[in-house]
Amino acid sequence: MLLSNLVINKDEPIYIQIKRYISNMILKGLIPNNSKLPSTRELSQVLNVSRNSVTLAYEELKADGLIYSVSGKGTFTKSNSSLNQSNWCINWEDKQNSYSKVANDMDIIKNEIPWENNLISFKSISPNGDMFDIDELKKSFLNRLSLEGHKLLNYGYAKGYKPLIEYLLEYMSKKGVDTYNKDILITNGFTEGLDIILSSFTSSGDYIICENPTHNTSIKIMKALGLKLIGIDINENGLDFDLLEVKLEKYKDKIKFAYITPSYHNPTGTVMSPENRYKFYNLMKNNNIPIIEDGFNEELLYSSSHIFPICSLDNLSNGIIYIGSFSKILFPGMRIGWILADKNAISKLESVKRCRNIHVSFLDQGILYDYLQNGAFEKYIKKVRKFYGDKFNFAYKCVEKYIPNEYIFGDGGLHLFLKLKNIDTRELLNKCYEKGVIFMPGDIFYINNEVNNTLRLGFSRLSFEEIEKGIKIIGETIKELPIKD
Ligand SMILES: Cc1ncc(COP(=O)(O)O)c(C=O)c1O
Repeated sequence: MLLSNLVINKDEPIYIQIKRYISNMILKGLIPNNSKLPSTRELSQVLNVSRNSVTLAYEELKADGLIYSVSGKGTFTKSNSSLNQSNWCINWEDKQNSYSKVANDMDIIKNEIPWENNLISFKSISPNGDMFDIDELKKSFLNRLSLEGHKLLNYGYAKGYKPLIEYLLEYMSKKGVDTYNKDILITNGFTEGLDIILSSFTSSGDYIICENPTHNTSIKIMKALGLKLIGIDINENGLDFDLLEVKLEKYKDKIKFAYITPSYHNPTGTVMSPENRYKFYNLMKNNNIPIIEDGFNEELLYSSSHIFPICSLDNLSNGIIYIGSFSKILFPGMRIGWILADKNAISKLESVKRCRNIHVSFLDQGILYDYLQNGAFEKYIKKVRKFYGDKFNFAYKCVEKYIPNEYIFGDGGLHLFLKLKNIDTRELLNKCYEKGVIFMPGDIFYINNEVNNTLRLGFSRLSFEEIEKGIKIIGETIKELPIKD
């Protein structure tokens, strides 16, 4: 007990010493407000003094307003010390490093119009939670926990839960990837995967090639790490290979990595053709630039047959780091993704993962593994492909019907990307917001926010009625806006 440190001297009345000791502690903030004090009997025993002395000290402290009693409950501190109330003011603005500044400046959750009740919001590209197989997941939870028990609740391995790693290796080989000499690290979604790779293999000031526009979170991570982004335009014909070759020539040996999302790219939704996948792979290989392939949306193909990931071209080589995630179809809240790469690269990343947060929750990995391997996943994929495919086609038709545009991008996924004719989409957004509709302005996906006539429409969580109503409102609002030169 804190009060037992009081050493009683013989020169002063005992109650004064007790009072002074307790009041000092309260005034210095060493006993928090409303803390319970020992009863007079307890304290007299601890200090080996008479109970009367303690009672007297408590009476005086009460008179000074430093303590109060509640009948049947005890005596408590009432701190009104000037020290507790004085301001200690750190300027956290000044303390921020460049990583934090970029992360804050580019935080779209803080900086963009938030979702509100009654808004038709095309902002999100999260999966629709109503589609989740909650009953199947409950079964997997109970099954895995009864099979593995405490093992899932104790510390595990940084690389991940072994059965899940093996499942994913097999899953990747079904996509045509030769997994010989490759390994997997389970990560906290794609986002941690990219962050770990870049912070392990690049240094501030390094150059990185990426599509322009691209995933806003990836731009944020790359910029926060101080990387210099070389953007390669995506236009109506896909990636601008002419520009890519010019940039390769210009920056050549300085380029550390190329980051690319070949399937259902975010935000444009485009799918790179097999020919272009070969072309891109060979260009990078010939220039000795390792590729970080973002495979996040591959499962969401609606019409075409499966297109192989670029890393399936890298058989027997080790130049591609593939990042996978089920976030657009299954439980993004579980935050489980994976990195497939050369064994040696994974070994390096494994130590970085351990250093940062030890590993992804084994309970979550165990449940997800159970769900994936018991057949529920295949059934679910068929169901969501149909569900999102219908919405995609419907949204596409509504855009064609209602929104005057220069180009509609999108071969699949959970969104469409539009290029408008001479319309500032920030201005459009503000006007639409007044009419109860919001969307993602396209500038956030450009590496320097340089393009202001594009927008992304995410439709996964909206009903058909909302999709039509919202798109119609956007179209009508466009017609009210001044045309920019
Ligand atoms: C391009 C891209 N990659 C990956 C992801 C998935 O990220 P995570 O697995 O961290 O949720 C997203 C999500 O929006 C994305 O747009």
